[in-house]
Amino acid sequence: MAAPIRSLLFYFVLSIFCRFKAISTLPIVVNTWPFTNATETGYNVFLTGGSAVDAVERGCSKCEVQRCDGSVGEGSDPDEEGEVTLDAMIMDGESMDVGSVGCLRNISSAISVARMVMERTDHTLLAGELATKFAVEMGFTESDLSSNKSDTMYKQWKTNNCQPNYRVNVNPDPKRSCGPYHPNTNIYRKETREDKGIGYLNHDTIGMVAVDKNGHVVSGTTTNGLNHKIPGRVGDSPIVGAGSYAQNGMGGAAATGDGDIMMRFLPSYTAVQLMGSGMSPSNAALSSIKPIIKYFPDFDGAVIAVNHKGEHGAACHGAGIGTFHYSVMDNPSKVNLFSVKCV
Ligand SMILES: *[C@@H]1O[C@H](CO)[C@@H](O)[C@H](O)[C@H]1NC(C)=O
Ligand SMILES: *[C@@H]1O[C@H](CO)[C@@H](O)[C@H](O)[C@H]1NC(C)=O
Ligand SMILES: *[C@@H]1O[C@H](CO)[C@@H](O)[C@H](O)[C@H]1NC(C)=O
Repeated sequence: MAAPIRSLLFYFVLSIFCRFKAISTLPIVVNTWPFTNATETGYNVFLTGGSAVDAVERGCSKCEVQRCDGSVGEGSDPDEEGEVTLDAMIMDGESMDVGSVGCLRNISSAISVARMVMERTDHTLLAGELATKFAVEMGFTESDLSSNKSDTMYKQWKTNNCQPNYRVNVNPDPKRSCGPYHPNTNIYRKETREDKGIGYLNHDTIGMVAVDKNGHVVSGTTTNGLNHKIPGRVGDSPIVGAGSYAQNGMGGAAATGDGDIMMRFLPSYTAVQLMGSGMSPSNAALSSIKPIIKYFPDFDGAVIAVNHKGEHGAACHGAGIGTFHYSVMDNPSKVNLFSVKCV
């Protein structure tokens, strides 16, 4: 072959290879916030031959153990009684199987209990003390999830007349006094979320999406929920389609932020379905939060979206977040941080 033709051929092959490489970003792990240790832990699972389910479980577990931002795992964000309870879920986009736990007491590894619900029951969601009983049967050990930090947060909240407070339409006035509370006679408009001083630091979550090299999509979340929540409160994180969603051939998504509001709009489900109909991950994430803005112009929240090819994007809303950061690992060398300005 003549030299010019040979080099032409070389560049042709090279360009195909490069284009192929640019598209093929699988496997990939993406999660909310700069929780890069979790991203790396999830990605390393792929390097050692683990599945996407393993990647999400271990990645989220890492955040539970490291208590990412104090918003994941034990030891922070106590409820009105000072108790720390956990919410978590995992969803397998191949089998459409889901396991989740809400208001889990006394078990620190919530994402692993969620996986047990997925793999060792026909159910989807177990809650509260009875979820603890299930976890113990499955071999988990009970412990006290409070810490000096959560005890201090609880004491300061009491000292501060139990503010912020999520009760409305009760006596005594929940804006000024601690409980016990009783329903009052009039129902008035709910305060906006912003009035309650909800910022992203008092209600956070890790949400993660992992896609293996064959396009198997898995998503998960784990959190200790809203600081000073009313005992029994379950947020969006363990709710399918709200906290996260995964479906092979489409993609995966996860949400973080004002879960009490966001769960009413199933943003993760919406984002995944939109990606399934060909929308880019960024646009799908944005479209999934638009209906929320219409009704709750003050809400703070973010959605990450990853399609089955490994393309990713995010969208966020609210001054409480401002700029949202998320972590991506799609090569063995390093985790990359991406950021989006909130709308
Ligand atoms: C990652 O983990 C190391 C310890 O293994 C810790 O020092 C560091 O703060 C963690 N990084 C983040 C972002 O949490
Ligand atoms: C469960 O948690 C509570 C605090 O929330 C603690 O008082 C209790 O000792 C814990 N139970 C066990 C068996 O660890
Ligand atoms: C928690 O507080 C107690 C005193 O109230 C102290 O003795 C203990 O060392 C503290 N533990 C940690 C881990 O800070």
